[in-house]
Amino acid sequence: MKVNNEIAINWDRFDWQAFQKVQSILFNLVEKQGLREIRLDFSRLKQAFPNGLVPLIVLLERYRQSSGVNFEVVLPMEEICRRYVMDSNYAAYLCAGEHYPVTNKANALHRFFDDSSLNELINSQIHQILERATYAQGVLQSFEWMLNEVAGNVLVHSGVEHGWMQVVVHPKTRHMAIVVADGGIGIPTAIREAFPHQVMDEDAIAHALKEGITSRPDFGQGKGLTGTLQIVKINQGGRLSIHSQKGRVEWANDRLDIKGDFPPFPGTFVDIQLNTAVPIEIERALWGDAPAYPFNDALYGMDTAVGVMRMKLVGEAAGFGNRLTGLKIRNKIENLLAAAPNDVLEIDFTGVDLMASSFADEVFGKLALVLGFVGFGSRIRFVNINRFCRGILDDVVQSRIIQSHAKK
Ligand SMILES: Nc1ncnc2c1ncn2[C@@H]1O[C@H](COP(=O)(O)OP(=O)(O)O)[C@@H](O)[C@H]1O
Ligand SMILES: [Mg+2]
Repeated sequence: MKVNNEIAINWDRFDWQAFQKVQSILFNLVEKQGLREIRLDFSRLKQAFPNGLVPLIVLLERYRQSSGVNFEVVLPMEEICRRYVMDSNYAAYLCAGEHYPVTNKANALHRFFDDSSLNELINSQIHQILERATYAQGVLQSFEWMLNEVAGNVLVHSGVEHGWMQVVVHPKTRHMAIVVADGGIGIPTAIREAFPHQVMDEDAIAHALKEGITSRPDFGQGKGLTGTLQIVKINQGGRLSIHSQKGRVEWANDRLDIKGDFPPFPGTFVDIQLNTAVPIEIERALWGDAPAYPFNDALYGMDTAVGVMRMKLVGEAAGFGNRLTGLKIRNKIENLLAAAPNDVLEIDFTGVDLMASSFADEVFGKLALVLGFVGFGSRIRFVNINRFCRGILDDVVQSRIIQSHAKK
């Protein structure tokens, strides 16, 4: 391959700014010079960010499909960065056809094609984020609501057959990033179909963010983007950034910034950042009088009476023996209880014949400490539990309560 077909990435970080530089060079090589063989050399890269690599993946896919360009991508040499690029599925999607594995790991980039693959993906994301950290009241409902709205938009508005999604949780900094992208027609083009006077791309995006604005009144209600912005606004430290075609609209530091963007992004890129330690009153965000959004009714509220959630323990893990699994399940239980503060949680032991004491202590012993005697007794209910598991449970919970009592 000739040297002039090569783009060497010489920056330590690959973020949106870096993406745009590469995009300009690619525009020149592909569209002006007509080149069809291009090498992208990331060997010197130290840090890859979703807001750099996800848009690049969308762009490369575009060039491959519409102009038949072949890309050779050289992965980073630096060990941690290289591993991140592999584990995030970036390697698989950047180097199409080179058979890097696509994983279903938490934090990785995923594709969705239709409503059923989107539902499946959102449910698996919820399972994964429930296990990894705890969240302030309303954060999980907001997360689920926004992800459904923004990713759902790809299916109904983008005009392409798949979208991209990545969710990254940082438990230490109490921060979460949600990225949704597509290589479709873009928000400005969609908006202009119904509002032709919106000639500037950035103004068209800002228009789409207003309540009740939809380009498909037969289909939508124009609540998705506006609600997303409201949620981000009431979450101190929350940010929203939307890039689409030649427009960029960003909410950060208590202000909305509306600007042109060049080169244009061929599709829609939405980046949401939440502070997971700050409670979000989702009903207030979504116009005050909206009914409370039942957090993941499909996963934990199906077939139960109102006010009762049910967790089937067998569905949560492959075994019930160790503290690490126990910690994940306890995180999930704490999140479910916080998400629906007036509900009872039924823990269904069907199919669980045996559980280790360390596991039981990690989940239920420590939960009893967090909730207190009365809280534990009134909010958690055990169903279909056998005598052995009940004995273990009694033992670890009593020990924990006695221990905490002795400390006092
Ligand atoms: N991924 C997308 N691709 C193209 N257009 C989009 C996309 N997301 C949103 N839009 C545009 O923004 C408008 C507002 O979106 P939204 O607030 O979710 O309302 P609704 O989906 O009910 O129309 C849509 O009607 C559409 O014109
Ligand atoms: Mg919508």
